[in-house]
Amino acid sequence: MMLKELLQHKLETKTATIGVVGLGYVGLPLAVEKAKAGFKVIGFDVQENKVNKVNAGENYIGDVLPTDLEGLVKKGRLKATSDYSFIKEVDAIAICVPTPLDIYKQPNMDYVRSSAEAIAENLTEGTLVVLESTTYPGTTEELIKPIIESKGFVIGEDVFLAYSPERVDPGNKDFNTKNTPKVVGGVTEGCTKVAAAMYRSVLESDVHEVSSPAVAEMEKLLENTFRNINIGLANEMAILCNKMGIDVWEVIKAASTKPYGFMPFYPGPGLGGHCIPIDPWYLTWKAREYNYHTKLIETAGEINDSMPDFVVQRAMEILNEQGKALKGAKVVVLGIAYKKDIDDYRESPVLPILERLTKFGAEWVAVDSNIPTFKLNGEMISTVQLDEKLIESADLTIIATNHSDFDYEMIKNCSKMLFDTRNSYDKPQYPNYVKL
Ligand SMILES: NC(=O)c1ccc[n+]([C@@H]2O[C@H](COP(=O)([O-])OP(=O)(O)OC[C@H]3O[C@@H](n4cnc5c(N)ncnc54)[C@H](O)[C@@H]3O)[C@@H](O)[C@H]2O)c1
Repeated sequence: MMLKELLQHKLETKTATIGVVGLGYVGLPLAVEKAKAGFKVIGFDVQENKVNKVNAGENYIGDVLPTDLEGLVKKGRLKATSDYSFIKEVDAIAICVPTPLDIYKQPNMDYVRSSAEAIAENLTEGTLVVLESTTYPGTTEELIKPIIESKGFVIGEDVFLAYSPERVDPGNKDFNTKNTPKVVGGVTEGCTKVAAAMYRSVLESDVHEVSSPAVAEMEKLLENTFRNINIGLANEMAILCNKMGIDVWEVIKAASTKPYGFMPFYPGPGLGGHCIPIDPWYLTWKAREYNYHTKLIETAGEINDSMPDFVVQRAMEILNEQGKALKGAKVVVLGIAYKKDIDDYRESPVLPILERLTKFGAEWVAVDSNIPTFKLNGEMISTVQLDEKLIESADLTIIATNHSDFDYEMIKNCSKMLFDTRNSYDKPQYPNYVKL
């Protein structure tokens, strides 16, 4: 059998060993799903604490069932290591390392580059490498391909290389790694076929093959830019509606009755997480190489980035109407995570809100049962317990993230003033209540 057919056979019969590089929000659920499907899985991470936790069967990612992880580790189907020499033992590798921005909003490709170099150093013939990290179009062929070729491999013959974007939506109860369709684009047609075979043997959902890694890289950026821009529009509508005294949430609800041509997006305190606020800038950066300015993306970014300021401005106005200043006011901020029911506060818009509250002299505390401590400007801060006394003692309560475990009835009844940035109530006709 040729290398390609042999690998495809191993993937289809689940006799292949799969390596997952980067055991974070994306990588750990992926490793668990592949092991549950019957593959032997080796996870790689540079953080020893994550490696140790996996090997002890201890879960640290919300989307993973602790019993799944524990069971797979016990059965010897899943293990973790920081030793890249184990790459020699795997038949297929999924790279799920971070792709953040630097302080100039330019892609930081250090993690992708260093993991690709470590993989190439230990790569053996007949192995598939798939990049899953979100990145600019061209990464797989311009950055990873030369690293692998520098070791003398011919892509499509000796080894196989593809890009397949990760679409996981942490906290989503309906769609997860297993039932979300996958897009796959290989450097050669053969590369696409083997990568697609790997996903088909694990997923319940469709695998959509495209003609190149760049198409797959670009479609992921289209997905996230689409969200970013539409949220920007919803935020702009919220700012305008506030000036005009119109309830933006009622407007969106009404528009949503149109059965075609409209999809609701909602305003909020700003964007957060590792994807929506970051990914469009990858495109903006790459577009400059082609002398093109992504105007729409930058405008949406500006609006979304201004939302924490808008929230604090509104907080000031709400207190002002009560004859109070923000300086010295007691403020309870509910929710640190960037969205509902998750424990991730990376890029959370709540952080700049807290920074501004500090700057204006408010005395604030934050509540988030999923996040016991968080870092703000280098300082570790503990969140506090939500109870009646806490809410009653505050001049203003702000719902920044609408976690399900908040007692909304109590919050509404005990708040002196309640500012809700998430439209958390069905029929919000309360005198002390203000919506974004
Ligand atoms: N989190 C999401 O919701 C989400 C959704 C879709 C796509 N993505 C994309 O997936 C990628 C990973 O995101 P994430 O949220 O899982 O990040 P994460 O920070 O949670 O996890 C990344 C892991 O990679 C490890 N790592 C870094 N360098 C490494 C190296 N050289 N070798 C081995 N391990 C290394 C880190 O220690 C970390 O554990 C990013 O490109 C992100 O944009 C994320």
